[in-house]
Amino acid sequence: MSNVKLLKFPVHGDDRGSLIPLDKTNLPLKMKRVFYMYNAQPDVRRGMHAHKSCNQLLICVTGSCRVLLDDGQKKETVLLDSPDKGLYVPYYLWREMFDFSDGAVLMAVADTMYDENDYIRDYQDFLNYYQDMRVKDDE
Ligand code: TYD
Repeated sequence: MSNVKLLKFPVHGDDRGSLIPLDKTNLPLKMKRVFYMYNAQPDVRRGMHAHKSCNQLLICVTGSCRVLLDDGQKKETVLLDSPDKGLYVPYYLWREMFDFSDGAVLMAVADTMYDENDYIRDYQDFLNYYQDMRVKDDE
């Protein structure tokens, strides 16, 4: 799907364990905010929105979960099951996070501050909002 990137971060590991640094040399966006989801209840779906401007990098730092991405025409599901995997999700994709393993922690790195007005939480509104972009893609 266009502009989605599945990144693999280098792991600094030794006999004490592993460490992954994220900074401007390997982040695919300019970080303004980090948040993380945990204690996800079984069978719960989170996300269920697109954004008007906020790009995000999703990393399941503990456990695993799946992310459904939808551009209004195609859908794709990505499994995040390792702290060295990062999924770059551009603002205009509808996303749903589900299948959280017990104890999973899903971290999001965002390039904007939190703003509820940046969210499109209704699927039909999402289809309408990005209709022009899809028409251009088809041409
Ligand atoms: P919400 O957007 O409902 O989570 P999801 O991505 O699963 O749809 O966020 C849950 C609550 O947390 C909601 O009241 C808004 C608040 N929130 C913040 O205050 N700051 C943030 O950066 C985020 C992502 C959420």
